[in-house]
Amino acid sequence: MTATTGAPRRLGAAPDPADLDPAERYSADELAAVQLERLQHTLRHAYENVPLYRDKFDAAGVRPEDCRSLADLAKFPHTTKQDLRENYPFGMFAVPMEQVRRLHASSGTTGNPTVVGYTERDLDVWADVMARSIRAAGGRPGHKVHVAYGYGLFTGGLGAHYGAERLGCTVIPASGGMTARQVQIIQDFKPEIIMVTPSYLLTLVDEFERQGIDPRSTSLKIGIFGAEPWTEQMRQEIEERLDIDAVDIYGLSEVMGPGVANECVETKDGLHIWEDHFYPEVIDPFTEEVLPDGVEGELVFTSLTKEAMPVIRYRTRDLTRLLPGTARPMRRMAKVTGRSDDMIILRGVNVYPTQIEELVLRTPGLSPHFQLVLTRKGRMDEMAVRVEARTDCPADRREPAAAELVRAIKDGVGVSTEVAVVDPDTLERSVGKLRRVVDRREPRSAG
Ligand code: DLL
Repeated sequence: MTATTGAPRRLGAAPDPADLDPAERYSADELAAVQLERLQHTLRHAYENVPLYRDKFDAAGVRPEDCRSLADLAKFPHTTKQDLRENYPFGMFAVPMEQVRRLHASSGTTGNPTVVGYTERDLDVWADVMARSIRAAGGRPGHKVHVAYGYGLFTGGLGAHYGAERLGCTVIPASGGMTARQVQIIQDFKPEIIMVTPSYLLTLVDEFERQGIDPRSTSLKIGIFGAEPWTEQMRQEIEERLDIDAVDIYGLSEVMGPGVANECVETKDGLHIWEDHFYPEVIDPFTEEVLPDGVEGELVFTSLTKEAMPVIRYRTRDLTRLLPGTARPMRRMAKVTGRSDDMIILRGVNVYPTQIEELVLRTPGLSPHFQLVLTRKGRMDEMAVRVEARTDCPADRREPAAAELVRAIKDGVGVSTEVAVVDPDTLERSVGKLRRVVDRREPRSAG
């Protein structure tokens, strides 16, 4: 489990309370009242306009009017990615196509991609929650925001873009790729904020260094990082190498895109979920039972205001826990440990790439660039870690670093691995979402 522990190195300034959205200051009772009203409306809207929801509710013997309290939501059936795939492309839409202003889609490595749609009001809400997220991260009107999330069907680029404009920032729509040029643009345009996946940020840092520019010397003050899991150790690494505040942003296209939850720069203690629009639950992924706040499980969302594509109890597969509010009254989610799909099972032990990330970054001499290679010997799965040495790691430090990491993984995670420390700049670099795991296992033969 990724602990939200260790005091962050630096904390930015909180916004003026007068600048917050009214919802960001709701009391628990005010929030619950808004949520219940919106939830009841959403359940009706979904039931009346999406055949999948009507069939699922009927099969479960529940009707929208059975929801009299927020706890009643637990009676309703879940929605999965499979449901979206089976209704490809537009079967989940609850409004006529003429009212859909934008489409996004996930890449869909297997099967149909999942398609999502937005009405004009949905786009408006999305820009609002993204603006709220950027402000929480320390962004202010007048800041220049370099958006290096990919533009296109992926929600990252355009989601960040319209949110930054809504806040009153100047947007630099860089998108992903053309790394050398991005560095030049950052040097010339002098943005205060960068929005990018943490893995592509590391690629940009390498490029700064390659061009002989000290990454700490840039105009950047804040980084808003998400779209993939990253750990507290990675936060420290990034904050130190760039001399910025590194803040976590979470979201998924099925629920909206980026801006479902965001950390506050003044606390950096997990992500406040914008609960006036997205109602969270955490469930046991096996029994589907709703878990109390504080217990880790699978995050589930119900949209509260979406028109084009309401989602009811959507199973994200992301593992986290719900925590009480701090910088804002709304609840937080702990940094995501990983997706249930990313879990590696080695001799019965569950391993997440984030666990390895923490240990790699704690080992002197090792860089954040690493890959997990899975192979199978006989009936046994094996995992090897290929990790780049830091550029300033002396040659005679590599062997001891590898041995330390082997031991740390054995002690901390409980599995035996091989570790190979490779030359700097030899592993594949990310331009968007990173692929940490290279799976070379032959499929098991039947029987
Ligand atoms: O990744 C939306 C996004 C764009 C979020 C930019 C943040 C920044 P999808 O492509 O639908 O949408 O992928 C969603 O990415 O279910 C998580 O598994 C993962 N993910 C997103 N943000 C985080 C995060 C965008 N902060 C999937 N930490 C989600 C860990 C994240 N995982």
